[in-house]
Amino acid sequence: MLLYIHIPFCDSKCFYCSFNSFTDKKNLKDNYFKALIKELKYELTKLNRLKNYKIETIFIGGGTPSSIEIKYFEKLFKELNIEKNRNIEITTEANPNSASYEWIKEMSNLGVNRFSFGVQSFNKDKLKFLGRRHSPKEAIKAVENAHKIGVKNISIDLIYNTSIDSKKLLIDDLNLANNLAINHISAYSLTIENGSKFEGDFSKSKDDELLSKFFIEETIKRGFFQYEISNFSKNYKSKHNLGYWEYKNYIGTGAGAVGFIDNKRFYPPKDINEYIKNPLNKRVEELSSEDIKMEKLFLGLRSIVGVDINMFNTKELKRVKILIDGNKLILEKDRVFNKNYLLTDEVTLFIIK
Ligand SMILES: C[S@@+](CC[C@H](N)C(=O)[O-])C[C@H]1O[C@@H](n2cnc3c(N)ncnc32)[C@H](O)[C@@H]1O
Ligand code: SF4
Repeated sequence: MLLYIHIPFCDSKCFYCSFNSFTDKKNLKDNYFKALIKELKYELTKLNRLKNYKIETIFIGGGTPSSIEIKYFEKLFKELNIEKNRNIEITTEANPNSASYEWIKEMSNLGVNRFSFGVQSFNKDKLKFLGRRHSPKEAIKAVENAHKIGVKNISIDLIYNTSIDSKKLLIDDLNLANNLAINHISAYSLTIENGSKFEGDFSKSKDDELLSKFFIEETIKRGFFQYEISNFSKNYKSKHNLGYWEYKNYIGTGAGAVGFIDNKRFYPPKDINEYIKNPLNKRVEELSSEDIKMEKLFLGLRSIVGVDINMFNTKELKRVKILIDGNKLILEKDRVFNKNYLLTDEVTLFIIK
């Protein structure tokens, strides 16, 4: 069982972002954390009653967890009884402008052993273009501080395929990243999201497959192993990320989070005020076996997880064999793996058409 905790507060809204996060609701922090603790207690007790489960990983995401003072996390971790979970992977996202040396140190004292910094780029013009609040220097400093404190697992997020990207800019970003004490990169191709400041303005992104291919190859050349379309590791793959693609169950807590248990998805309220009023008022979505099959296909074929060959019907199996013969898929011990994650959509749609 994985556990996701959502922190829906940010210092400013980046131009590309449509995640559930707010810049003007910090006054609700106290009540938000009370509601979060209530939800967590409820979920953990319910699951304990229903089945014998073990929390395998915890991921604190956002929003911007580093915009929140340590005292709130202290309370949360006390409730979670983190002491007994100290040996599991506990990740927090953090932004370079707010993740101070003290914040990182105190979070790591609480048991957080993996930090994922939203760097996006080390180029100051690109940071401005994306509406980021931090400088390249602050991004480097945040990673260096985490390393100094003794954090072993450090990841950074990068964004590529913006309209101002060139091969040179991306290479400079990767070279800088590679000089830092990180063992993981999450690199996302810029998507133009509804609800973001970039909404509808497709001139802000490049849909350039060749540039994507170039960027991925250059990342791999620097010793990072691509284990999912957007995730690259140097000797340490995120167990939490992998868990999602392996289709493990997860508890999702916080405003706008998503949980997944057996064949059901659970959605707590997105609106912070509504969430605070009743964090247990979740919308439930039941997935059909067809939905589950499709999701397993998309998740498995865009990562090293692959898919079980026995999930295909006779017609699909014929098309899978065509792709294996065409060297697009590989079959190993009853599992089918995709050779090029950039082609996941095409490959999946070809199989199930
Ligand atoms: C939800 S954010 C939270 C992390 C943290 N608040 C930060 O900004 O560093 C997680 C990551 O998603 C990526 N992301 C968010 N919106 C995106 C978009 N429209 N296109 C590509 N990547 C995006 C960014 O790389 C970001 O660091
Ligand atoms: S990218 Fe991160 S910091 Fe920027 S608005 Fe989204 S959640 Fe907040």
